[in-house]
Amino acid sequence: MGQSYRITLLPGDGIGPEIMAVAVDVLNAIGKQLDIGFEFTEALMGGAAIDATGEPLPAQTLEICRKSDAVLLAAIGGYKWANLHRHLRPETGLLGLRAGLGLFANLRPAAILPQLIDASSLKREVVEGVDIMVVRELTGGIYFGQPKGVFTTETGEKRGVNTMAYTESEIDRIGRVAFETAQKRGKRLCSVDKANVLEVSQLWRDRITALSSEYPDVELSHMYVDAAAMQLVRAPKQFDTIVTGNLFGDILSDAAAMLTGSIGMLPSASLGATGLGVFEPVHGSAPDIAGLDKANPLAQVLSAAMMLRYGLNQPTAADRIEKAVRRVLDQGDRTGDIMSEGMNRLGCRAMGDALMKALTLS
Ligand code: IPM
Ligand code: MG
Repeated sequence: MGQSYRITLLPGDGIGPEIMAVAVDVLNAIGKQLDIGFEFTEALMGGAAIDATGEPLPAQTLEICRKSDAVLLAAIGGYKWANLHRHLRPETGLLGLRAGLGLFANLRPAAILPQLIDASSLKREVVEGVDIMVVRELTGGIYFGQPKGVFTTETGEKRGVNTMAYTESEIDRIGRVAFETAQKRGKRLCSVDKANVLEVSQLWRDRITALSSEYPDVELSHMYVDAAAMQLVRAPKQFDTIVTGNLFGDILSDAAAMLTGSIGMLPSASLGATGLGVFEPVHGSAPDIAGLDKANPLAQVLSAAMMLRYGLNQPTAADRIEKAVRRVLDQGDRTGDIMSEGMNRLGCRAMGDALMKALTLS
């Protein structure tokens, strides 16, 4: 047996377990082909963890993640837990996982697949060839800044507070990841901020500009976040790599994702300084179709490919999985979310079977 890896699986809620099952089958198959071993440990997170233990991210889950080589997460959350107190919500577990594992860099690719171009709500000529990577800062900014909370003022009125804050070192470390990512892609980096209004953004812009002298091969530009939102839907091909803070990245990465037609196709990677990463689809837990065998497992499978590429340094295995995904799309296989006329509509499991067959062909 060649290399062997300990993988923590966090299937979570809703469609999570169904799409995770497909990804595990695919990983086992590719492992057999390339003599890579995977030792999977499943742990509780999100609503499933709340039901079992009373909290969205049990300490034991974080411990299991820390001991592994990579974490594959599906999706968390659902109506059932949406009204719980904030510290008990599934989303709080996700933020705790990011913070607890120091995952400051979130890579969200949005590349349009030629087979799915008609699934985009934008015109073909606008989206054809779009290939964007959003590098989102993930453990700082307004998501984590202090002070935060709902306080009572002297007049007895309530006042909600969050704080957008970045230190120079936080900006530098995400900036470096972004420049290095751009170097491996089209060598163009657009830094998105709100420096015309926010001091925190002015510091952001100054630091990113200063860093750029270390990366002379990368062409750096800056854009205000409102203009970036507009340009993303007006002329998305102008973007190669985007770097931005936590909140702006949350919003812009959803907009970028939707350019490709379906959020059901997109993986993401959250990386830290230690090499341990969490890999997960961009989409949510889709509770409305959970358990109905309708979910699209491709973003989960592509997240496993991203895990192999960025987390485990197994590019051949990642290539083969990505090729199998292209192959099933080429042969017309589609789940409901990416269905169009003349294609074969498949459920989640059947899509998994098609992938397994495609893998044996590569
Ligand atoms: C995301 C999600 C999360 C975020 C939520 C679920 C906490 O929207 O990963 O983009 O806001 O970061
Ligand atoms: Mg989001």
